[in-house]
Amino acid sequence: MAGGVVVSAAGGKVYPGRMTFFVFFTCLVASSGGLIFGYDIGISGGVTSMDSFLSEFFPSVYAQSKANKDTNQYCKFNSQLLTLFTSSLYLAALATSFVAASVTRVYGRKWSMFCGGLTFLAGSALNGAATGVSMLIAGRILLGIGVGFANQSVPLYLSEMAPANLRGMLNIGFQLMTTIGILAANLINYATVSIPGGWGWRVGLGLAGVPALVITLGALSLPDTPNSLIARGYTAEAKKVLVKIRGTSDVHEEYDDMVAASEEAKSIKHPWRNILEPKYRPQLTIAILIPFFQQLTGINVIMFYAPVLFLTIGFGGDASLMSAVITGLVNMFATIISIICVDRLGRRALFLQGGTQMFVSQIVVGTLIAMQFGTAGVGEMARSYALLLVLFICLYVAGFAWSWGPLGWLVPSEVFALEIRSAGQSIAVCVNMTLTFIIGQAFLTMLCHLKFGLFYFFAAWMVVMTTFIALFLPETKGVAIDEMSLVWSRHWFWSKYVPPAGEGGSSRRAHGV
Ligand code: BGC
Repeated sequence: MAGGVVVSAAGGKVYPGRMTFFVFFTCLVASSGGLIFGYDIGISGGVTSMDSFLSEFFPSVYAQSKANKDTNQYCKFNSQLLTLFTSSLYLAALATSFVAASVTRVYGRKWSMFCGGLTFLAGSALNGAATGVSMLIAGRILLGIGVGFANQSVPLYLSEMAPANLRGMLNIGFQLMTTIGILAANLINYATVSIPGGWGWRVGLGLAGVPALVITLGALSLPDTPNSLIARGYTAEAKKVLVKIRGTSDVHEEYDDMVAASEEAKSIKHPWRNILEPKYRPQLTIAILIPFFQQLTGINVIMFYAPVLFLTIGFGGDASLMSAVITGLVNMFATIISIICVDRLGRRALFLQGGTQMFVSQIVVGTLIAMQFGTAGVGEMARSYALLLVLFICLYVAGFAWSWGPLGWLVPSEVFALEIRSAGQSIAVCVNMTLTFIIGQAFLTMLCHLKFGLFYFFAAWMVVMTTFIALFLPETKGVAIDEMSLVWSRHWFWSKYVPPAGEGGSSRRAHGV
């Protein structure tokens, strides 16, 4: 055993090093990729509830919403075209994540982030200047390409740069930036809705260029990760970066393990085929199910449609945007709690607590809506009920923001072996975006048909996913990223697929402790 390497509680190595300003700074800059993702999530709900935007691009929806004033509250905004505007981005993002996998692997994480920023910048220009629906949708597709690149590369970048004992905290920087993006968008929605002349939506859509510029320029200034540099043959530079990010010259053991991981990765010619091998079954399951479940929490019903939802339950136009600002603030602050707790309490504790809190909140929200609107969907919500509703929506958002929100990106990005990491992350992005698309597309129709039962529907999924975590997710806190096979080989179920080292197990690195 070299240098100051010790054994962690999980049985893996703990390499020497400390949190340096350099690693903090690089992770901060890379996290800003989350800004573009979040800004977009927040802005679309706001603009699609603006009369001037609806009357210009979706006149039929506008006319319907005006004409429908006294009819069924659940079906007021049910329009496929309107939801297509919101969700087209996610289709583009999911297709892009596969291209991004190759860019990330072959050219490095940095250039994927750069591509993401640049396409997002182009998309925001097109959207801000849109003169017709087709221009609007084309702009949104470019934004989607940007999100596809950024979400594929940023979480990987963060997980590879961070020292194992702080990986959760640094990785969640991405989700924190996402929530800041959402909040900024909510505030901009709030400020622009009342701009005379009805062009406030242009400001909102065009300002997406600001976070895009941050990540584009930021990416240019970043070094690539040591893992990626080694894998691409830049070994001397990799060592230099490793010394700098760990703040010690005693990095030999970690460096050697990275080189070994990279050798193993090089022997794999077809990451996409390899990932299907039984020994990667646990990681593949996680890459698919974690983002799948993250979206089935129903969070984007709140994120995309909070203004529409609040309008539906009887807040006026302004008040509804204000409520979205409140949920945006809760989302951001609760993510900070996750940053503080994730490397101390671990991933499982947050998942289990957050999941339970979300389940209870959804049942209460569904019940409050049922009590006021029943199945017919007619009536007005009494003020006291509406306030209680906002309170429980906030509790729901807080539960998400310290569990499924950040961990939905952290966990898939940290469980893969290097040889399949890029492919695995693409699968996670693709599943996330597919489900985001489906829920974005289906929500208004589902609300119209399932009525308050929609919230019970998501609550039922909370039970399924929380049980899955309890049974099948091993704790990954503090385990070095290249030592991760240990957590599977010691798990009661997954050890069937990943035998302990020495029994033909997948991990050469598991011997190393
Ligand atoms: C999810 C998004 C969601 C956001 C809310 C992210 O982790 O992937 O779909 O809108 O969190 O903060």
